[in-house]
Amino acid sequence: MKGAVLSLFLSFVTSALAGTYKRSEHIVGKDFFNAFDWLAISDPTHGRVNYTDEATARELNLTVAAHKKFILRSDDTTVLDPDGPGRNSVRLSGKNNYTIHVAVFDIAHMPQGCGTWPAVWEFGGTWPNGGETDILEGVNDQGPDQSTLHSGPNCSMPAVRHETGTALLQDCNADENSSGCGVRLNQTTSYGIPFNANGGGWYAMERTEDFIRIWFWPRDDHRVPHDVVKGAKKVDTNDWGIPAADFPNDSCDLADWAPHSIIINLTFCGDWAGAVYADSGCPSTCIDYVNNNPSAFSDAFFEFNSINVYTLTGHPYPNDGTTGITSPDVAGNQISLNQV
Ligand SMILES: *[C@@H]1O[C@H](CO)[C@@H](O)[C@H](O)[C@H]1NC(C)=O
Ligand SMILES: *[C@@H]1O[C@H](CO)[C@@H](O)[C@H](O)[C@H]1NC(C)=O
Ligand SMILES: *[C@@H]1O[C@H](CO)[C@@H](O)[C@H](O)[C@H]1NC(C)=O
Ligand SMILES: *[C@@H]1O[C@H](CO)[C@@H](O)[C@H](O)[C@H]1NC(C)=O
Ligand SMILES: *[C@@H]1O[C@H](CO)[C@@H](O)[C@H](O)[C@H]1NC(C)=O
Ligand SMILES: *[C@@H]1O[C@H](CO)[C@@H](O)[C@H](O)[C@H]1NC(C)=O
Ligand SMILES: *[C@@H]1O[C@H](CO)[C@@H](O)[C@H](O)[C@H]1NC(C)=O
Ligand SMILES: *[C@@H]1O[C@H](CO)[C@@H](O)[C@H](O)[C@H]1NC(C)=O
Repeated sequence: MKGAVLSLFLSFVTSALAGTYKRSEHIVGKDFFNAFDWLAISDPTHGRVNYTDEATARELNLTVAAHKKFILRSDDTTVLDPDGPGRNSVRLSGKNNYTIHVAVFDIAHMPQGCGTWPAVWEFGGTWPNGGETDILEGVNDQGPDQSTLHSGPNCSMPAVRHETGTALLQDCNADENSSGCGVRLNQTTSYGIPFNANGGGWYAMERTEDFIRIWFWPRDDHRVPHDVVKGAKKVDTNDWGIPAADFPNDSCDLADWAPHSIIINLTFCGDWAGAVYADSGCPSTCIDYVNNNPSAFSDAFFEFNSINVYTLTGHPYPNDGTTGITSPDVAGNQISLNQV
């Protein structure tokens, strides 16, 4: 009886505090080496890239922690053999999984340059049914940022939403259109050269069973919440204002999505950057440019100040207090990934 009353009380408290999360990970500088795996896989999006393993990335200084920063870059010194592998770069895959959570990325610099296709995103389970959330993504310096969901069937977004960005496609189903249901952010400082010139900023994502929301605050935005700036031990997303992108569950069963982990990758050309390369006003062809102009990639790097992850309990999945979410299909997803 007592227990029933207590759990009733607790469930009331939990729902009353929806929007309040506890920090489960605080990743700064060399912590990145413990929090991520280096995936030396062939690029599922057919990029002109060679994803290096951790030992190679460290040896070549492609991933380095210095002064409480973490840098992820591509090679910028090698003229490539056209018959050999692509430009050395890195794809990081987070070791933890999350269902209901918030992730805050404090980014000082992101990869820029013709041919680049950087992304900070999350996915898990069997693609696409397990779901994919692209938080920060774009190609060939063509801002602003595009935040996108990819899903299995029966997942679409309403035309009118509470967001500052501009909705593109409504259907998230990857089999209908591999573009997914994207939202183009309102701020030019959300991507590429203007992002870097402004000292970067903060990206945040909240995933619940009811919605996925993405916020962006440029470095000089005085409206950035204090808990975000500080990487506080608790955050309250109710105080964060209108999101840049809002993906509600009206016609999409987000509760059925798999637990996700964080992925950070930098590829070149491939299914998106390569396809729109000429339209982006870039020189030569994408592959020739990437092969022959190493110094053009000197600014193709991420510099992270921190990543903070928050869950309801302060622990990663499955200890996050959620129920009813199907466990991820461990096999296969890393290679079935595909997106234009
Ligand atoms: C990089 O990230 C994007 C996320 O949008 C993903 O679609 C793409 O497959 C990834 N590319 C590589 C090469 O990992
Ligand atoms: C490509 O990456 C692999 C795995 O890290 C590495 O062993 C190899 O040396 C790289 N290739 C080149 C040409 O650098
Ligand atoms: C590795 O990269 C860091 C950060 O950019 C830089 O400070 C350092 O000098 C580099 N080391 C080498 C050997 O290039
Ligand atoms: C999608 O919706 C259709 C029509 O309601 C239904 O027949 C189908 O089973 C659903 N597919 C999935 C994968 O849920
Ligand atoms: C887009 O950003 C501009 C400049 O920051 C702002 O004035 C405008 O209200 C924003 N639009 C929306 C829909 O929030
Ligand atoms: C997919 O969506 C894009 C817009 O994001 C559109 O340009 C393209 O025509 C669509 N393709 C199909 C096959 O509907
Ligand atoms: C959205 O999520 C809430 C809470 O999980 C659930 O009660 C509601 O039925 C969902 N809406 C739809 C349309 O599935
Ligand atoms: C995260 O999920 C993957 C499968 O998607 C699984 O292999 C891995 O063990 C999970 N990690 C944790 C910490 O639960």
